[in-house]
Amino acid sequence: MPVIQTKTKLKKELNNLSNKLDLGLVPTMGALHMGHASLIKKAVDQNENVVVSIFVNPTQFNNKEDLDKYPKTIDTDIQLISAISDKIIVFTPAVSEIYPDTIVPKTYDFEGLDKVMEGEFRDDHFNGVGTIVEELLNVVQPSKAYFGEKDFQQLRIIQKLTEIQHIPVEIIGCEIVREDHGLAMSSRNERLSKNIRQKAAFIYETLKTAKNKFGTENALNLKDWVIDQFENNHDFQLEYFDITDVETLTPIKNKINNVKYRAFIAVYVEDVRLIDNIALN
Ligand code: PAF
Repeated sequence: MPVIQTKTKLKKELNNLSNKLDLGLVPTMGALHMGHASLIKKAVDQNENVVVSIFVNPTQFNNKEDLDKYPKTIDTDIQLISAISDKIIVFTPAVSEIYPDTIVPKTYDFEGLDKVMEGEFRDDHFNGVGTIVEELLNVVQPSKAYFGEKDFQQLRIIQKLTEIQHIPVEIIGCEIVREDHGLAMSSRNERLSKNIRQKAAFIYETLKTAKNKFGTENALNLKDWVIDQFENNHDFQLEYFDITDVETLTPIKNKINNVKYRAFIAVYVEDVRLIDNIALN
């Protein structure tokens, strides 16, 4: 399986493909788990050729400690990818390859999608995500690119990025993959103690109950109910719970017919920050 470090070599490899127009890209930051495996399998099913990138992008971390602690498991990542298909091209650039001069993100106007939820709590995070995803899309020029719905706000922002930068690619959102007890898969789950990892099922249980209540309850009361649940469970600190429409990510005031809503949550557990979301209707 080709594992390539530079853009020049990657472009050469891609030029040699017989069908360059049928190319899927799965951008990752490594520490791959079954959630990533499901994105990669989908890309392999839908495309003749697939590139998986592994790059821990410094400009999307607003906290240096979080960046330093980000797990790096390149050997097992490569094993996981080659077990899916050894035809996949793996791109693992160094930071200097992506940011040759200064390690700063570009600035985008995401029309407000980046100002709520994750954007409110993580300065410049989405500018960093936009910078690396735009670079990868430009270098690889895939026909399709795959992103998980666990980062639903990121998915919407990447759709917006391709619109405002006129990048001709189909962005495919993939359903959240969960551990057996319901916790959304994340590389950060590895940092939880065994006991708390089990207890963290509480996050998805709360989202599911919120979904059931959404049919009959006022959204503001529902938010208060979620806040209460977390105030009564001292293992978890709720950072935010928001219900927004899926297009603009604007927090709901009154439910409007035919508008699709989603609930989003961010929680600290043992100093690890976890996010999750659920479609409400
Ligand atoms: O979701 C991620 O892992 C990252 O934000 C991404 C899309 C690979 C960009 O670094």
